Amino acid sequence: MLYPFIRKALFAMDAEQAHHFSIQALKLLRHFPALQPVPNNPVEVMGLHFKNPIGLAAGADKNGEAIDGFAQLGFGFIEVGTVTPVAQDGNLKPRQFRLPEAEGIINRNGFNNLGVDVLIENVKKAKYDGVLGINIGKNATTPIDRSLEDYQICLRKVYSHASYVTVNISSPNTKNLRSLQYGEALDELLKSLKAEQAVLSQKFGKYKPLVLKIAPDLLPEEIASVADSLVRHQIDGVIAGNTTLSRETVAGLPNADQQGGLSGKPLNTLSTKVIRQLSAELNGKLPIIGSGGIHSVASAQEKINAGARLLQLYSAMVYRGPNLIRELAKKIKTR
Ligand SMILES: Cc1cc2nc3c(=O)[nH]c(=O)nc-3n(C[C@H](O)[C@H](O)[C@H](O)COP(=O)(O)O)c2cc1C
Repeated sequence: MLYPFIRKALFAMDAEQAHHFSIQALKLLRHFPALQPVPNNPVEVMGLHFKNPIGLAAGADKNGEAIDGFAQLGFGFIEVGTVTPVAQDGNLKPRQFRLPEAEGIINRNGFNNLGVDVLIENVKKAKYDGVLGINIGKNATTPIDRSLEDYQICLRKVYSHASYVTVNISSPNTKNLRSLQYGEALDELLKSLKAEQAVLSQKFGKYKPLVLKIAPDLLPEEIASVADSLVRHQIDGVIAGNTTLSRETVAGLPNADQQGGLSGKPLNTLSTKVIRQLSAELNGKLPIIGSGGIHSVASAQEKINAGARLLQLYSAMVYRGPNLIRELAKKIKTR
């Protein structure tokens, strides 16, 4: 097919430049009528109707600039962000690296984004009418013990524009962010955001699910503890999970020593393992959105079989091209 040629051209560029180029191309795509309809493999989760279970993971469209372009690729849902209260540059470049031998990516972007207000303007302009998740985070300059304020600001602003809102506390590229996944810090955050969700649902007359995105690097006892908090606070869903700090599956490869979070195929087994344990802990009390290393029908189906109700991907688009999305959307058997 065509993608191997496109990939060659994209891989001749720096990883972040190639991403920027792809976003511009997808922005143009929205001006053309859809070549094929979005695959129909419907699933109802969190009270929402998904055309199919394959979603775009956060980070690919941080500012919601290319929602209609991504929609044309056949996704059953789209998650934009991570967005923060005010615009920030993120870490110094280069900050995104390919590991082609492993089909992996390491990024330490650090929530580079144009701020929540710009994202909302972009969402308003999009014609897309499917499920839209908005993923929220904290600014790097906000002290970690004041994170709640950033999440509240974002939640209030995005609430009426999102189908669901993801609370991202699992990026490895914002100092101390992952500390919010533990004990009292997690309980406080979830309690306050749940209360805010109740206020907003009254205000707007519509309940919007709240989803937590966790790291795949949590230890088994930490996964059990997160599951307990999710249930106690009646969180609506959980994304398992974000990128990993582990280099076990890529040791010795070029770029493996770059700092940041590893995604793509080398993350697949770890992410599926977390989903399996989380599913056992949650026992169906809330749905899991599986993300991490999906690169084929088999790897995607494995995550569903491990307990995920929906799936998200990012890195495989880079390595396998957009055709994989429609293939997965048609072939995955949900429960
Ligand atoms: C370049 C890049 C940037 C990302 N940025 C974000 C982000 O802003 N917020 C977030 O929640 N996840 C982010 N992620 C993580 C993805 O959403 C996803 O959870 C992870 O990459 C695992 O899926 P994959 O193996 O299919 O890529 C990013 C991933 C990559 C590769």
